[in-house]
Amino acid sequence: MTRMTSTTSLTAQNATSAPWWRDSVIYQLYVRSFTDSDGDGVGDLDGITARLDHIAALGVDGLWLNPCYPSPNRDGGYDVADYTDIDARYGGLAAFERLRDAAHAHGLKVLMDLVPNHCSADHAWFRQAVAADPGSAERARFIFRDGRGPDGSEPPNNWQSTFGGPAWTRLTAPDGTPEQWYLHSFDTSQPDFDWSDPEVGDMFEDVLRLWFDRGIDGFRIDVAYAMVKHPDLPDLDDPDGDNPYSWNQPGVHEIFRRWRRVADSYGRDLTLLGEVWLPAAEAADYIRPGELNQVFYFDLLQQPFDAAAFRRSIGEALDGLKQAEGVPAWTLNSHDVHRAVTRYGLTVPEPPRTTDINALRTRARGAVNTALGIARAKAALLLLLALPGSVYLYQGEELGLPEVQELPDEARQDPIWERSGHTEHGRDGSRVPLPWTAAAEGNFGFSTARPTAPAWLPQPAWFADFAIDAEAADPASVLAFYRQALSARRGLDRDAPTEWLDLRRDDAIALRRGDHVCVTVFDGPPLEPPADWGRLVISSEGAAVETSVVAANTTVWFQRSGS
Ligand code: NOJ
Repeated sequence: MTRMTSTTSLTAQNATSAPWWRDSVIYQLYVRSFTDSDGDGVGDLDGITARLDHIAALGVDGLWLNPCYPSPNRDGGYDVADYTDIDARYGGLAAFERLRDAAHAHGLKVLMDLVPNHCSADHAWFRQAVAADPGSAERARFIFRDGRGPDGSEPPNNWQSTFGGPAWTRLTAPDGTPEQWYLHSFDTSQPDFDWSDPEVGDMFEDVLRLWFDRGIDGFRIDVAYAMVKHPDLPDLDDPDGDNPYSWNQPGVHEIFRRWRRVADSYGRDLTLLGEVWLPAAEAADYIRPGELNQVFYFDLLQQPFDAAAFRRSIGEALDGLKQAEGVPAWTLNSHDVHRAVTRYGLTVPEPPRTTDINALRTRARGAVNTALGIARAKAALLLLLALPGSVYLYQGEELGLPEVQELPDEARQDPIWERSGHTEHGRDGSRVPLPWTAAAEGNFGFSTARPTAPAWLPQPAWFADFAIDAEAADPASVLAFYRQALSARRGLDRDAPTEWLDLRRDDAIALRRGDHVCVTVFDGPPLEPPADWGRLVISSEGAAVETSVVAANTTVWFQRSGS
């Protein structure tokens, strides 16, 4: 066993002097689906407050709330009608304050979701824009253009919406006359702001300050690489491919420098985390000095469970991000992708009906070997936890929940389902309300006020096998493993550099972090660890494992003795 020359990457800073977000583990809450406290079948903030013990017991450092602002909810709240308030269905501002205080009392940070690329068509500004004339100040806040063709009946360019269909919708005047078109990178109900209008930047600075003044600890920033558009809005050579005129335009960085100045002015380690679906080298630009603090690294989440794919993806992140001031935010699950258990356990994929690359990589459907998927998801998580940077967990992954692929079509709410002409099922299957109790009837304890209330998305009968009450009582459960894994992470030397080890086999990868070695065997024969790796700290196979030999689909941490 030889060790490669050290490809030292990010060096996490001293845990005592480093800002809290640098090595943090954050729990993502899809508010509608965690716990319903008032019996309407929809999760709410008081539901989260009532069950904060579950989150705190995991050993995470904070929580990120998916958007819970007033919204017509055409895209899960990413269509914000009012950035200054909390939707009454989630309990309003008073419930937010109760949750914030309770979270802080548990030592948990609170991140809100900021949606600056677009708002809801119900936002006052967009209503004013629709009522105003072409060329008006009200329309200048959005991207309105005349149509092409002799009668303006063709969209201004050939851009496609991320959810399918054209990225432009034409207004109709009250008297029925066809009008200008507006740009929406997502659903028609989500008009894009025009960030070249200074009023837009000023409004968002106010929003940032409002929530920082209300005591939050940071923001996750939605599609943080898309706000600035090429001023000419040129046609795309391939309308179905990437959109370089909308994604990663250089001007977007100026917005984040401004926001960073705002955040830093508070002097209390606030964090700004960007949702940036870009390769590592470009994602790194977002966490340069003076910009964002963290950037999601989604490349890994798009890889199959394969040693070479993981080695390349992690390596590119560590190399690409090492000049950065901020850190990568690693993640395997979210409300936008199929759950890791399903991605890694997919044994018989259905023929795809979409050409969307992201959907093909993260939302493939088909028959799943759940036990295999769970083993691999646990192995991947334990590997993630060994890396420098922060880790984001998505509610339900701590239970080993698979994706709910079998939702009835009439229950689907994701706009992708309709906009793709029913060729892409969308993201509802990762958003089904959590099972809290294994009881066979009702909503599995999701609603504390009305155990029989139907949850807003139907829960399958097999959710009983993943119920939190059962897993909490079972030392061999996925939940027990998550708690152990997060506890083990606290034993890592955060100052230690990360070095790859050469295993002389291509179906396993290993890295050293200080006195710890983390090894993942993806495939092939069991790996016999060399004696100098030390004692076994934790195995993704679970607490009962007695041998230090590492089998396929398993990650193990070792630690040199004496440390
Ligand atoms: C990314 C969010 O995570 C996703 O759920 C949403 O649909 C789009 N941005 C549009 O806001």
